[in-house]
Amino acid sequence: MKVAEVSNVVVAGAGTMGASLAQIFAQCGLRVTLWNRSRQGLDRARALIENNQAALVSAGRVSETGSQELIGRITAQTNESCFSDADFVIESITENLEVKQAFFRHISPVVREDCVLATNTSGLSISALGTSVYKPGRFAGMHWINPPHLIPLVEVVSGGETSEETSGFVYDLGLRLGKKPIRVKDIPGFVLNRLQFAVFREALSIVESGAAGLEDVDGAMKYGLGLRYACLGPFESVDLGGIDVFYKIASYLFGNLENRGDVPDMLKSLYESGSWGVKSGCGFYDYTGGKAEKAVKNRDSKIIKITDALLEDEK
Ligand SMILES: NC(=O)c1ccc[n+]([C@@H]2O[C@H](COP(=O)([O-])OP(=O)(O)OC[C@H]3O[C@@H](n4cnc5c(N)ncnc54)[C@H](O)[C@@H]3O)[C@@H](O)[C@H]2O)c1
Repeated sequence: MKVAEVSNVVVAGAGTMGASLAQIFAQCGLRVTLWNRSRQGLDRARALIENNQAALVSAGRVSETGSQELIGRITAQTNESCFSDADFVIESITENLEVKQAFFRHISPVVREDCVLATNTSGLSISALGTSVYKPGRFAGMHWINPPHLIPLVEVVSGGETSEETSGFVYDLGLRLGKKPIRVKDIPGFVLNRLQFAVFREALSIVESGAAGLEDVDGAMKYGLGLRYACLGPFESVDLGGIDVFYKIASYLFGNLENRGDVPDMLKSLYESGSWGVKSGCGFYDYTGGKAEKAVKNRDSKIIKITDALLEDEK
């Protein structure tokens, strides 16, 4: 299968990520089937897609007609018939190794042998998932970042059995979709989540120690480091700041950073009490009384403005 020949895509799993992923393929003119095991999930996804599209229309990223045409290219179904003539399937169901393996064990013999299969796992082993795939050479990781219809990065992950042809295909597909793919080997968390969780562990440690509050830490990222990281990677940043300066700071600071291997109590207690963030109305912050919708809208409108500025600058 050549990337230019792809016309029929199945996104399996219509959760937060699946709904957003369907829009990326449809935006590129491809026919997309959003498959989910329940009709209820598909209805939720339809509402998410409509909200996302309304935000893009109001930001001037897409016209009202273009948006309606895009939505028209997405079919939603619970029937598995969509898999038999797919050119490309991306799985985005729940983050559980056994559940994903059962999905691929069931679906991979049903799809055509030239159909490329990918998983949107956040960091499960691609090699371990590949053991459940019939003809695993055509299977790779394609890890997107939430909300993927707005964030350009996609991580292309090769497992032990992934062929060069397949990783090249997934990489080129990312380019065809107008995204910024990077290649990664099959290490836990790949690149993005290793970076994200190193920061998150340190952020939890700072707050738990009482050295700074939640808002202070979030502010340090939003108005300081995050702003720089939107423009430069860590290596580019250090080159600009001076290797000598960073060397001296690293000599006394690395030994002071958090390096615990277990989940800190602050996160554990939120998880155990069901305070799961925006989706449950409470997390580190309170999201009741319309604050959840506002937080998502706010995030999306800022990402649109920042990516527009960054991509414009690269032209
Ligand atoms: N949310 C994020 O920030 C994010 C970012 C990148 C990657 N991911 C990854 O994307 C995948 C989906 O995440 P999400 O946030 O959309 O999750 P979600 O909970 O919103 O959706 C999960 C979907 O999986 C389906 N599902 C659950 N059990 C299933 C089963 N046994 N068989 C078939 N379908 C089943 C559900 O119906 C639902 O549609 C996960 O692998 C996750 O790690 C998530």
